[in-house]
Amino acid sequence: MRASVLVAVASRHGATREIAEAVGASLRRSGLEATVIDLDQATDRAIDVADHDAVVLGSAIYMGRWRRSARDFVEANRSALAARPLWLFSSGPLGDPPEPAEDHAVELDDLIADLMPYEHRIFTGRLDRAALGVREKAVVRIVKAPEGDFRDWDEIFDWARSITEALRGDAIEGRSGGLTDGAT
Ligand SMILES: Cc1cc2nc3c(=O)[nH]c(=O)nc-3n(C[C@H](O)[C@H](O)[C@H](O)COP(=O)(O)O)c2cc1C
Repeated sequence: MRASVLVAVASRHGATREIAEAVGASLRRSGLEATVIDLDQATDRAIDVADHDAVVLGSAIYMGRWRRSARDFVEANRSALAARPLWLFSSGPLGDPPEPAEDHAVELDDLIADLMPYEHRIFTGRLDRAALGVREKAVVRIVKAPEGDFRDWDEIFDWARSITEALRGDAIEGRSGGLTDGAT
């Protein structure tokens, strides 16, 4: 049986959704099953985490927090997430060097404390000023956020490959009883 990975994402302007889609595509190329869901769509939120062997969960960062849809997803599925191999990612910091620095980009400790993810990776994001609402434009003007697409696709694909390797290896034994996939 091929391992089935749920890739769930909360995105406002699409940059983080594209990262999730890239992760899903990479997992599929490696022979895993990957289902990418958009947590801002009610129909997608209805998906049952228990139907999947592992979860990758990501959100855009706004004002130092994950989007509400991602936080609600964690609360609604806490025990199922804690029982599966779990990887988290955030998309936020902008510029070169990226700001804010990783330590200050997002506050997640309380939300994820008992989930014990394998990793929480913070990716640089994208800011397209033309797509922002009035209040968002005001915020980015005040903090002087740099405009542009700072996503590092090599880093994103490397990360996705590391997830495949972990799912194929011994790293998850004991947590889910081990996974298999069709490619090995
Ligand atoms: C109003 C506003 C507030 C933001 N706040 C943060 C923040 O606190 N920390 C951070 O790292 N990035 C912050 N960002 C950057 C976004 O998280 C980044 O552009 C992200 O890639 C957007 O993802 P999305 O297109 O999926 O919504 C902010 C962007 C906007 C427009």
